[in-house]
Amino acid sequence: MVGLAQGLRARFSLVHLTDPHIAGEDQARVRGVDTAARLAGVVESINRLSPAPAFVIITGDFSADGSPAAHRRAAALLRALQVPVRVTLGNHDDPETFRQVMGELGDLLGTETCQAIDIQGWRILLLNSKCPGLKEGFLGPVQRQQMREELAKNPRPPALLFMHHHVLPLGLPWVDRDNLRDWYEFLEILRDVGNVRGLFSGHAHQASRHEWSGIPFFVTPSAGYQFFKDPTQPRVSPEPPAYRLIAIQGGMFVTEVRPVGPPAEKPTTDPPSPSPRPGG
Ligand SMILES: [Fe+2]
Repeated sequence: MVGLAQGLRARFSLVHLTDPHIAGEDQARVRGVDTAARLAGVVESINRLSPAPAFVIITGDFSADGSPAAHRRAAALLRALQVPVRVTLGNHDDPETFRQVMGELGDLLGTETCQAIDIQGWRILLLNSKCPGLKEGFLGPVQRQQMREELAKNPRPPALLFMHHHVLPLGLPWVDRDNLRDWYEFLEILRDVGNVRGLFSGHAHQASRHEWSGIPFFVTPSAGYQFFKDPTQPRVSPEPPAYRLIAIQGGMFVTEVRPVGPPAEKPTTDPPSPSPRPGG
């Protein structure tokens, strides 16, 4: 597959993959969808990108239920990726299980909450918005301080941020109540450091783009299933799984969502979420 990076002759590219929601049992469907089959298709599509991306950044909800079996199945599917991977967690992931059963992906998570990658004059930050016991996102004061220090380090390059939860409301009450709880303090850091060029989140299982103070905030669709933009309730749409490609040249980037395959089969069921608060 020809990549955006090749089309633009970009210096390098990144892939954002999020929310695969793998079930704990073979053949098990999540909200009526075979998420394992869909993630396998997404991995295959990413492996065909030419040139290959520098990193695939995965922003959580690897598992649908937080079980060891689901984590193991997700790790097995992602092991097929032929490019370097970086990971952070979503609300469905259990940090201890992740570290214990996901092998090299567990090692990648490490113990740091805020991970920084310096690449070709850019600083990439992976933030861990998973807070034990909360469905909404939360960075907390320690990680916010790490984030501030990483962004302010000299030389101060342009930066892109990745985390599971979205920050700005999407106009969908059932998912907006999960947004980043410490959003105000997060935006204060962006205002103070001045070098953040974009934020990429998941969780909402749909594509969106909002802007704050000239900084684009993107939501990337799920590598498993999408939700309709229905403000009344989360309903699974027939849209295919997808990932996001980010092509970077100089101090600029362009990005597009890459659906994988045709619209999928109609979900066989759309059972209510076991959570009292349904959504991503
Ligand atoms: Fe989520």
